[in-house]
Amino acid sequence: MAWRRLPILLFLLPCAALAQTLRQEAQQRGILIGTAVNPVFLSEPAYAGTLAREFNMLEPEDAMKWYAIRPDEKTVNFGPADRLVEFAQAHGMKVRGHTLLWGGHDPAWLKTHTPEELSKILREHIERVVGRYRGRVFAWDVVNEAFDDRGALKDSVWHNQPGIGLAGKGTTYIEQAFRWAHEVDPRALLFYNEAGAEGMNEKSDAVYSMVKDFKKRGVPIDGVGLQMHILDLKPDVAGIGANIGRLTALGLQVHITEMDVALPVDAEDNPLHPEDLTRQAEIYGEIATACLRHRGCTALQTWGFTDKYSWIGWFTHKAKGAALPFDRSYKPKPAYNALQEALRPRLRPGN
Ligand code: XIL
Repeated sequence: MAWRRLPILLFLLPCAALAQTLRQEAQQRGILIGTAVNPVFLSEPAYAGTLAREFNMLEPEDAMKWYAIRPDEKTVNFGPADRLVEFAQAHGMKVRGHTLLWGGHDPAWLKTHTPEELSKILREHIERVVGRYRGRVFAWDVVNEAFDDRGALKDSVWHNQPGIGLAGKGTTYIEQAFRWAHEVDPRALLFYNEAGAEGMNEKSDAVYSMVKDFKKRGVPIDGVGLQMHILDLKPDVAGIGANIGRLTALGLQVHITEMDVALPVDAEDNPLHPEDLTRQAEIYGEIATACLRHRGCTALQTWGFTDKYSWIGWFTHKAKGAALPFDRSYKPKPAYNALQEALRPRLRPGN
């Protein structure tokens, strides 16, 4: 009989009334909630609508990378990046810039230059890109993924192959990029962004030592980005919390910059084990909670938002997917509800 359900209904009603978008929850909680975006999809109403409704920050997934802006020496292409910045402005969203210096995915033409030329090219690039978006991009991933898993600096065109003339001087080339970016936009927050350095390990130790040294010597750095691509459903959440703790204790901000939680999938991108969706939701919730425990953890961002467009399939040769909070039809998944729950302002003291 219907009246028997009345108590349940009365209980659910206020919960439903309280349920808000991620953006609204995040706003009340004082944290930024962002996602990586591709301007090609903005013409799709469900894509643009979900993006503006659920997020208060966006980051170009590829449109501000070297190969997008400078595919060859003569070309400077800001079109796709501009479209994203304009979308963000039209919808009251912040923009995270990504990325000014990354050894991966550099266009081949850079390799033909001497260290002196590369130094000039990098400085001009930073001036051009940071200058163009001054006042519109609030935070930059100045340098991305410079360390290997053992905590050694990776070889790259900027570091030592041939490098910008600072090879053999450790992290000085990274420091130089931060100094140049700061000169162009002293108000932008400058981040070092890394993969696989979320928890406590040799790579995160190397990142920690570098940023501690930067802080001590007054190198203009404001934060560390932890990418958070979770591929195995077994993140070390305690270690991640400890790492966020030691970084924020330096007076740095932490942004979770590229979160996704990949699941084993079939050829149609459906999870092989439906129960994985529950585990995925728990992980989203646990990471959001680990971030929120630290005042200095100021942004949580996913690497895309709909399973329709996610880099994970490409990255894992289609073995994994379904990694994001919305399914391929933009329907919220359990992961969405877990994020919503984690972000919800706590009503009771001690909760
Ligand atoms: C990925 C994009 O998602 C893909 O579209 C592109 O083909 C390759 O790069 N770490 C980063 C991101 O910092 O820039 C990467 O993005 C994912 C891993």
